Parts: sequence; structure tokens; C-alpha cells
Amino acid sequence: MYTCKDEGLQIDVFPIHNAALAWVGDTIIWTGKEKYLPERLLNDEIVDAGGGIVVPGFIDCHTHLAFGGWRSEEFEMRLKGKSYLEIAKTGGGILSTVKATRESSEDELFQKCHLILERIKRLGVTAIECKSGYGLTLADELKLLKVYHRLKKPDLSTIKTTFLGAHTFPQEFIHDRQGYIQLLIDKMLPIISEDNLADFCDVFVEDSAFSTSEAREILNAGKKFGLIPKLHADQLTSCGGAELAAETGAISADHLEQISDNGIREMARANVIAVNLPIASLYTQQPYLNCRKLVDAGVKVAVATDFNPGSAPSYDIHLAMLLSCNHGRLTTDECLKAVTIYAAKAIAEENEIGSLEPGKKADFIVLDVPDFRFWIYHHNGADIRNIFLKGTQIHP
Ligand code: NIG
Ligand code: FE
Repeated sequence: MYTCKDEGLQIDVFPIHNAALAWVGDTIIWTGKEKYLPERLLNDEIVDAGGGIVVPGFIDCHTHLAFGGWRSEEFEMRLKGKSYLEIAKTGGGILSTVKATRESSEDELFQKCHLILERIKRLGVTAIECKSGYGLTLADELKLLKVYHRLKKPDLSTIKTTFLGAHTFPQEFIHDRQGYIQLLIDKMLPIISEDNLADFCDVFVEDSAFSTSEAREILNAGKKFGLIPKLHADQLTSCGGAELAAETGAISADHLEQISDNGIREMARANVIAVNLPIASLYTQQPYLNCRKLVDAGVKVAVATDFNPGSAPSYDIHLAMLLSCNHGRLTTDECLKAVTIYAAKAIAEENEIGSLEPGKKADFIVLDVPDFRFWIYHHNGADIRNIFLKGTQIHP
């Protein structure tokens, strides 16, 4: 068993050989070597992990789960040589999903998300962060956030929500950037905060989206409404996103493929979690983030899918792990910490989930492999033997 407690370095996953784990209801009450299992627990119901390894449920700490339509035609356009930005400039990209999302009803989006979430859970993902950002009007952003809140009820998984009204400028405000920013700050944030619809406020900081000064204004306004800053930073160009994350006290800065050395230093100093999203690099054919450089500089790195219809149309957290090792240069143990306790930190849930310790939720997976290294190396979803979500077996 790998406990993945929040101590030591990224590489320290705190394995226990011949381990036992005890839980009552949805909460872990004991972990340790089986031979030290307290007597009072010996007569309880036993689930035999059959020599498999036990790890905390995976946490996907960055997704854009709710959106209308898909964009497989853009995938093909990129194969023929068009870049992600060229496609966005000619009517594709985020704005084409905005159109499809505005045309979808809350119920349609809910049904689609519900189905996808069931499949995500089969991959051993027991907690997820979901962003709005494909509505870009008050009503459509609320619609997306409400979908996430409806998902929380029938589904036991932890769902954290992020307001990403600052994903890009909608068509109707292309020539009135400040007008859209005022709409975000004066109209959207107060209602979202009042109705408790989001935990975080995110901004896509990029030449083609929001400048650092526009992002600063939005994130600081979000803070006044109790929303913790998060950023899409330095993905396509190095534009000071990481530094802004440190300045605004962001909980995480995500993407970072083009982060500067100064940005790395600032994130380490301010203890901002870096979220590596290698599936986006895979699909957009952009360089991968060198996670090694960040870990060595003392930055905690989490790994997530960035699931969205454009740059990362896959919610396969296993693939994100494999790419983070092969291209991001994380070791397999570092990668385990990246999808468990550090991912929990990126969504402010580290007191509830992300490690196997007394008091934490009993979210765990049994893998049919000799060790976690083998799990990433073999890359076979069929190696998941059991999934437990809040103490209840949900697979098989
Ligand atoms: O995280 N970077 C901005 N947003 C998404 C892409 C969204 C899209 O292409 O629809 C991302 O990669
Ligand atoms: Fe994203």
C-alpha cells in the first residue's frame, strides 16, 4: 500500500508492505502493517486485496467537464498542419464550443456529464475539479456551474468547481474587453459567490486570451468574493502567468509549458502547486512541460487531464501519468504523489482525500500489479481490480 501522506518530497510515497487498511462508513480509521492490526478490528468484515497494491483514488484536479458538442474536425485539421491558434482564429477553438454550449440545455449538459463521469470513475478517479468557461454569459456560466452542483448529489465523488468566465472574450465583446471584464466582476462574480457555485476563480492568461493585468484585476475581484485564484498560465507563450500566480496567492498554476526560470522560483517561494497537463501537449503538438525542473526547484507538481473538447479530448488520467513520466521526466513515485495528495492540495481538499490515513475518506483502488512503477509502465486499465469510493466498492 502507498499511503501518499503529505510529508517529505514529491518522491516520498510512504509504502507499507503487507499492509492493512480499516475503515468505518466513509472514513479510514487505521492503516499499517497487517500484523499490527489492532485486535478490536480482527472480527470485522474483511476484503482481501489478493496481493494487489492499494493506492489512494486518483484525483483529476483540472477538467472542463461540461461543454456542448465535440471538435473532432479540429483534430483532423491539426493533423493536416493547422496549429491550435490558427484554428481558433478562423472560427474554431473555444468559441465554437461556446456556441454549442449556449445551444445546449442544462438537462442535456447534465446527462452528458453524468455519463462521462461514470466512465471517469471506472478509471479509478474518485475526485474531480470541473470548470465553467464555455458559456461566457451570466446565464450560460450559471448553467454550467449548476450542472456540476447537480452532479454532486447522485455521485458520491468529491467535485470541486471553478468559475472560468475568463476563458476567452466572447464574440460580442471582442471590441470591448473592459466591458466583458466588468460583466465578470460586477455581474457574474457576485451571483456565483452568493449562490456558492464555485470554489475557485480561474483565468486563461495568454496573448490570445487575457493579459496579466486583466487577469490580476479579475483574480483580485474573485478573492473579494471568496474565490481562490487558479490560472491557466504560460501554456503557449511565456507571459508572466506563473509570476502572477505567486503574486495573487493562487492555489495552483496549470499548464506552464513555457514557464520562465523566474516563474519557477516565484512558484516555489509562494508554494503554488504546478499542474501538469500533458494530454494538451499531446493533442496540440506543443512542447511538454519539463516537470523535473520544477520538482528540483522545490515546486510541488500535480498531474491532471485538462479534459475538454479542443486541446485535450481525453479524460484518461492513466495517459496523463504515462506522459508525465515519459515526457515530463517525473519518476513513477513522483507521479503517484502528483495524482493523489498534491492533486488534492491543488483543489484544497488535502484534509479530506489524497492519502490513506486515519480521518481521510476511504477512496482507494486495488491494482493488480507488483508496484506502482509497473502500473505506469504496463499502462493497462484492466489492472484495476477494485475501486472503493467513500468506503463503498463501486468496481467491479
Ligand atoms: O486548458 N487553455 C485554455 N483552455 C483549454 C482549451 C480549451 C479548448 O480548446 O476548448 C485548455 O487547454
Ligand atoms: Fe484547461
